Parts: sequence; structure tokens; C-alpha cells
Amino acid sequence: MDNNNTIAGWVLAGGIAALGFSILSGKYFHADGNERPETMGYIIEGVETADSGTDEVPMSMMLAKADIAAGEAVFKKCIACHTINQGGANGIGPNLYDSLGKPHGHVAGFAYSDALKSIEGDWNFDNMNAWLISPRKYAPGTKMTFAGLGKPEDRANVIAYMNAQGSNLPYPEPPTEEAPAEGEEVVDAGAPAEAEAAAAAEQVAEETAEASEAAAEE
Ligand code: HEC
Repeated sequence: MDNNNTIAGWVLAGGIAALGFSILSGKYFHADGNERPETMGYIIEGVETADSGTDEVPMSMMLAKADIAAGEAVFKKCIACHTINQGGANGIGPNLYDSLGKPHGHVAGFAYSDALKSIEGDWNFDNMNAWLISPRKYAPGTKMTFAGLGKPEDRANVIAYMNAQGSNLPYPEPPTEEAPAEGEEVVDAGAPAEAEAAAAAEQVAEETAEASEAAAEE
């Protein structure tokens, strides 16, 4: 009987020790700055095929790979409401010729919503991207009843196509090549973590010093 309890006790202790170790090692590995960017790298790759609105790749990089012909095909989703030829008629939505680089709601004679018209600034690649992710979020109260384009590729392609219809704005510079950009992330992610750890260590050292000073004074 006693023996059984002892065995049960050791099994329990072993289990607790194993649990403790896995919690600690979990903490350790999560705190390890080098592991994070690796995981993030995989996530970024996944985004390209993902059908979600999350947009981790900057539009400038998407545009560099954009395909105007593919964008024309995506634009079929817009032609129920929009023309894009020069001098084309307004439909349910305004004519979109030469719209990049123009103020929000620039087409004369189209009855825009106040929601869209009141947005300051010109259309550019970034705000056009945000608009096409979700018109409703970009301009709450807009009359454009279109859910949005979930795929970053679709948005980049259609924006490239729209740009080719009159606007012809130069594409923004992509950050750099992909590989160095990932390398930078390692540095970026690692540096603050290290700095934090150093700061924390310093604080502990200070507190210890203060405590021993206080003890000495007493
Ligand atoms: C169901 C009809 C509909 C569809 C589909 C639609 N739009 Fe629109 N769009 C509108 C309306 C209506 C407006 C005016 C919005 C307002 O005034 O709030 C608009 C406005 C716009 C504007 C702003 C133009 C300006 O002069 O400021 C852009 C850009 C635009 N749409 C692009 C697109 C693109 C690209 C697509 C396809 C991916 C698309 N729209 C699909 C109805 C539509």
C-alpha cells in the first residue's frame, strides 16, 4: 500500500516537473527573438494564396508584379456600375478614366455620397487599395455597394489596369528585394527584444542595489 502511494507520488511529481519544463521551454522559445521572423516568413508566404483581406505585402511590391491584362479581367466585377474609357458615361458609379491622382469624387455631374466626397486628398495606390479592400470601411456611408476584393493580387492587378487608363502614375518604389527585407526583419524583431532584456536586467540590478543599500542603512 505504502509503496503504491510512493509510486503514485513520483508519477505525479514527474508529471508536474514535465509540465513545468514544457511551460518554461515554451516561454524560452517564445522569448527567443530569432524564432519569430522565421514563423512570420511562412505566414507571409501563405498570405499570397490566402483569400483573406489581410495584406502583409506592401502594395508597392504587389504592383511591381502586377499584370494589367489580369486586372482587366478583374475589372469585369466593376463594369456593372462603372465605365473606364475616356469620356465614358456614368452609370450607377462614376466613369473611372484617369481616376488615380484625382481627388475623391472628382467626376463632374456624378452625385457622390458625402461620405466619399468629404475624404481629403487624391486617389493614390495605397488609398485605392484600402478602398478596394472594403469600400464600406474606407468611406462609411458610401453609395458603392461592393463588398471589396479579398485577394491582394486582384487588387494590385485591377489598380494597375486602372492606372493604365489615363492616369499612368509611376509605381511607388518597392522597399528592396525580398531576401534582404526578410533579413532586416530579423534585426528589427531581435533588436528591441534584446534591448528590452538588457533594460530589464539593468532594472533588476538597480533594484537589488537599492535594496542592499536600504538594508545597509537600517
Ligand atoms: C454595385 C455598383 C458598383 C460596383 C460593382 C463597383 N462600384 Fe465603384 N462606385 C460605385 C458607386 C455608386 C460609387 C460612388 C460612391 C459614393 O459616392 O459614395 C463608386 C465609386 C468608385 C470609385 C471612386 C471614384 C471617384 O471619382 O472618386 C472608385 C475608384 C471605384 N468606385 C472603383 C471601383 C472598382 C475598381 C470596382 C470593381 C472592383 C467597383 N468600383 C465596383 C458603384 C460600384
